[in-house]
This record gives sequence, C-alpha cells and structure tokens, in this order.
Amino acid sequence: VFHTPELTPADTLPDCAVVIDVLRATTTIAAALHAGAVDVRAFSDIDRLMAAGAELAPSQRLRLGERGGKPVEGCDMGNSPLDCTPDAVSGKHLFLSTTNGTRALKRVERSRAVLTAAQINYQAAVNYLRDRQPETVWLVGSGWQGTYSLEDTVCAGAIARALEASAVGNDEVLGAIALYDSWRDRLSELFRHSSHGQRLLRLGNAADIDYCAQSNCCDVLPIQKEPGVLVAL
Ligand code: MLT
Repeated sequence: VFHTPELTPADTLPDCAVVIDVLRATTTIAAALHAGAVDVRAFSDIDRLMAAGAELAPSQRLRLGERGGKPVEGCDMGNSPLDCTPDAVSGKHLFLSTTNGTRALKRVERSRAVLTAAQINYQAAVNYLRDRQPETVWLVGSGWQGTYSLEDTVCAGAIARALEASAVGNDEVLGAIALYDSWRDRLSELFRHSSHGQRLLRLGNAADIDYCAQSNCCDVLPIQKEPGVLVAL
C-alpha cells in the first residue's frame, strides 16, 4: 500500500517500509551512501542531531541539517544531494535531520525491514522487494508537514509499476501508478510544478531538482541496520 504521512496507520507496522522523500532527503541518503559514506543516521530533532556523534573525531562525521528547504546553521552541510561527493562524504558517518523525510523514517523505524528509495535509486528497492517478497509493504511518501506530495507519489508509482502491483495495491497505489505513467518522461517538469519543487526553485535549488528527477543513476539500496541508521546493502 502507499501512504501519505497523514494516512499512515498509527497502530500497526508492515513487514517492509519503503520511505520516500524524493525532494530531497532520500535522494541525499542514496547519493551519500553511493559516494561511500559509512552510514547515515537519521534524527527528527535538530538538538539531538547536534548532541550525537561526540564519540567520533570531527573528521569522521558530518552533520547535515535542513528546515524549510534551507541549511540549518551550525551544521556542516544542508540537504543537497549534490554536496554528497566522494570527496566530501567517503568514509564518514553522516548525521541527518530534515523537515519531513527523517520524521517519516522515525515513524516506521520499528518495521521488520526499512528501506529508503528515491527516483535516483528506486530500482534497487524493486529488486529487493522482488527477491524477498515481504507480505506487507508500505510505500511511505514523506510529503510536506503531513500533506501529500507529487514527487513522492510518482516515485511510489514507479516502484509499484515495476512490481506490477496494481492488482494488490490500495487506491493510492493505483493513483501513484497513473501519475507515473503520465509523467515518467517529464519528471523534472512535474517536480517544478510541485509545491516543494516551487519552494526549492525560490531558494535557488534548480540543479537539485534536476538531479533528483533522474531515474536510477545510483545503484545503491539504503537499508536500516538498526533504528535510525541506514547503510548500503
Ligand atoms: C524534507 O525532509 O522535508 C526535505 O528533504 C526537504 C529538503 O531538504 O528539500
């Protein structure tokens, strides 16, 4: 099933949750692990992020913080996937807190398996789901402060389309597949229509949108190794 945060049930968890925040948290997570980061530790709270990692030398860690699309003061970086070059992140532990994506992750972190997916790496999630066949799968779109988002929905649609899930998905899955079918060749344009895409454009992040709109340029599957800690499978 596909859930927006508002509609994610509070009293149950799936066998596998796939958290999606295409603009930009799960794109950043994929880009960072693909570029050789050791792990990405997700925090919903900035104060906790700042307090974490004291056991590591400053050269071994990077703090990435975003609120409202802007970098958080005092962090080493914001949430731009384009900053996650091998030079910047390879061999490092990343500590990440974002407005919606890391909160969505926290919401489902006790699921039996937790993956993250974005447009740049969704095929890796498809391969995992095909291979492992978990009985209940939630595709969780992070949205914006509890609301639906086009970019997360279209990525969920790409995953569901590849899995031929239309027969088993809820109505949200069917809607996501239809959105993907209509926009699959114009994702960057779709993202520019979306409300968070508009916000990122106002903040001068057009290059991030174009990067996030690429399909499967990173062959990496972020998987949760312990609650809140993602590594490349
Ligand atoms: C979020 O978690 O809301 C985002 O990833 C926002 C962003 O950095 O664009």
